[in-house]
Amino acid sequence: MALKKIEKLHLGFYPTPMVKLDSISKETGVNFYIKRDDLCGICFGGNKVRKLEYLLAHAKAEGCDTVITTGGAQSNHATLTAACCRKLGLDVVLVLKKRGVTDKKGNLLLDDILNVEVVFVDTDDYHDVYAEADRIIEKLKAKGKKPYMIPVGGSVPLGALGYYDAVNEIAAQAKEMHFSVDHIVCCSGSGGTHGGIILGAKAQGGIKVTGIVVSVEDDFQKEICRIANGAAELIGMKPDIRPEDVALKEYIGPGYAKPSEEGSAAIRLMAEREGIFLDPVYTGKTFAGFLDLCKKGYFAPGENVVFIHTGGTPALFAIPV
Ligand SMILES: Cc1ncc(COP(=O)(O)O)c(C=O)c1O
Repeated sequence: MALKKIEKLHLGFYPTPMVKLDSISKETGVNFYIKRDDLCGICFGGNKVRKLEYLLAHAKAEGCDTVITTGGAQSNHATLTAACCRKLGLDVVLVLKKRGVTDKKGNLLLDDILNVEVVFVDTDDYHDVYAEADRIIEKLKAKGKKPYMIPVGGSVPLGALGYYDAVNEIAAQAKEMHFSVDHIVCCSGSGGTHGGIILGAKAQGGIKVTGIVVSVEDDFQKEICRIANGAAELIGMKPDIRPEDVALKEYIGPGYAKPSEEGSAAIRLMAEREGIFLDPVYTGKTFAGFLDLCKKGYFAPGENVVFIHTGGTPALFAIPV
């Protein structure tokens, strides 16, 4: 049965490159491929653009004129939402937690250059952030605007479809490169990327997927399942992903958005060996987790592993490693 096609915009340049990194392969004993979603061509790239292609298509179809989203002060998702909305001529309000680096560095510098409204909420709790977002939405409506709210990370079933597509893209590239993908390793932050990848991997016939956790989340396996099964329903696939199908490995270190020693070393290793930059909040810790799992024998020797570079590099200019 053909799957249902959902409307999306073309905001990034896809397919993004996928290459084998020989020195990392030699170091770890697996065949290490990197999928460069950091090079997707809008802003400084990153995983959020694939999600936004679906979410902003929905916003446009609903006739919305202003997009509201949330995140941490250095949110990549917020900045990429701002950049994509600018390209589409949509207004944007970013409601961000006033925590960590809140001066005009990294993503906040980009938000300033993009000339979008940033509202800080002095809290550690997303309930407060959403309450402020709701107040802003009501004010916009009272002014005759039509707001569209994107929850943190764009991690809703519709957004996750972007990573269902990414797995199909990876499988097609692997075919051209004459190998088959055994395992995908990705960062799992708010779960949308991981959820979409699980669904794509299932459709491709059982590629293994491991998500590296970089922030503390309650019932995270259940949440990723909820996103993956919601995405499955949207395209007419059977929503049968179970929490035990979600492989998670924690490499949070001192805390979310706080660099870990291992993450910083992994960033330096990738830069020194390959001239590729990872970030201190997501991909550096994910690569550190991957290296540690290799040492522990988690991957079979010679396994074909695709590591997703999900972006985030602007944070390098705000958070020292
Ligand atoms: C650079 C980067 N990588 C990975 C992630 C995690 O993606 P997700 O929130 O879909 O789990 C994020 C989320 O903000 C991110 O900005």
